[in-house]
Amino acid sequence: MYTLGEFIIENRDRFSYSTEALLRLFSSIKLASKAIHKEVNKAGLTEELIGSSGFTNIQGENQQKLDDFAHRAFIESFKSRNVVCGIASEESKDFIVIKGEQENFFKNQCIVLIDPLDGSSNIDVNVSIGTIFSVYMRKSSIQMNLTIEDFLQKGNKQILAGYIIYGSSTILVYSIGNGVHGFTLDPSVGTFYLSHSNLRFPNAERIYSINEGNYAKFSNGIRRFIRYCQEQKDNRPYTARYIGSLVGDFHRNLIQGGIYIYPKTASSPEGKLRLLYECNPMAFLAEEAGGKASNGKKRILDIKPTKLHQRTPFFCGPIGMVTKLEEFMINYE
Ligand code: AHG
Ligand code: MN
Ligand code: MN
Repeated sequence: MYTLGEFIIENRDRFSYSTEALLRLFSSIKLASKAIHKEVNKAGLTEELIGSSGFTNIQGENQQKLDDFAHRAFIESFKSRNVVCGIASEESKDFIVIKGEQENFFKNQCIVLIDPLDGSSNIDVNVSIGTIFSVYMRKSSIQMNLTIEDFLQKGNKQILAGYIIYGSSTILVYSIGNGVHGFTLDPSVGTFYLSHSNLRFPNAERIYSINEGNYAKFSNGIRRFIRYCQEQKDNRPYTARYIGSLVGDFHRNLIQGGIYIYPKTASSPEGKLRLLYECNPMAFLAEEAGGKASNGKKRILDIKPTKLHQRTPFFCGPIGMVTKLEEFMINYE
């Protein structure tokens, strides 16, 4: 029974920044995720957190009540812990500055990017949803105001990334650059215990995950790759699994061996997923787990973001599967 707190302390030497900062970050993340876990588990019983909030977010998407609850839970939790100076959230148009207490000002040097509630379309139907988080060090001097460049850093500058899956159990998975580790919440005690140490994509290539309903809108390369996955040859056909929550699909593919595919389509020419809140943290975890993440041409972690809510095509999974897909895209685009 190894707790997340104990694990962080024992592995603190692997973190290139202060242990205190790491503990404060996790204290915020644990608290907010437990609040969401609690709400998610009673959502079926209450109207308070089911359905639309009545607002549309910056991406033009219908915001659910739980999107808003999760956004506020994480902001409040980070605000009060003297470690974060700025947060950019999928649910907020601009970045949010956290001033912090004057005497602790120098401690607040972390930048957080977050998708507070991933898989919104699954909230009302009792299917796995998640939170995705990503942490950087601020670039600007602490004497100056934060700038947009503090948030538009390449994914390879992440110092911490992870997700929480609110599924049949609530699991927190993270990496500080020394492998990927998962902790399952025991709700009776309110503690996360180590359940998946050193997660790595298995060698087996088993699953492909794509919203195949968009088939007619895909490029030739993607269509050919789908047909390749379905071919009866070697160890194929692969099994198709698609939840519609990136966190859920990624988590299953990481454990069972599969590729996640969200290409650009005729109606979303830049893809759907958000580089900063979704793709970079998942790419960081994928690489730490021995996998690969690409936009079809380039490593996700090497893309220089130009705007907060930037979207990108996203292909992520075991190295062999992602490389194969890239070949199809080059050969048949
Ligand atoms: P979010 O709920 O944060 O907006 O993210 C939804 C994302 C991602 O989680 C999921 O894999 C994808 O959108 C599903 O999109 P489609 O419904 O177009 O397949
Ligand atoms: Mn999302
Ligand atoms: Mn979201």
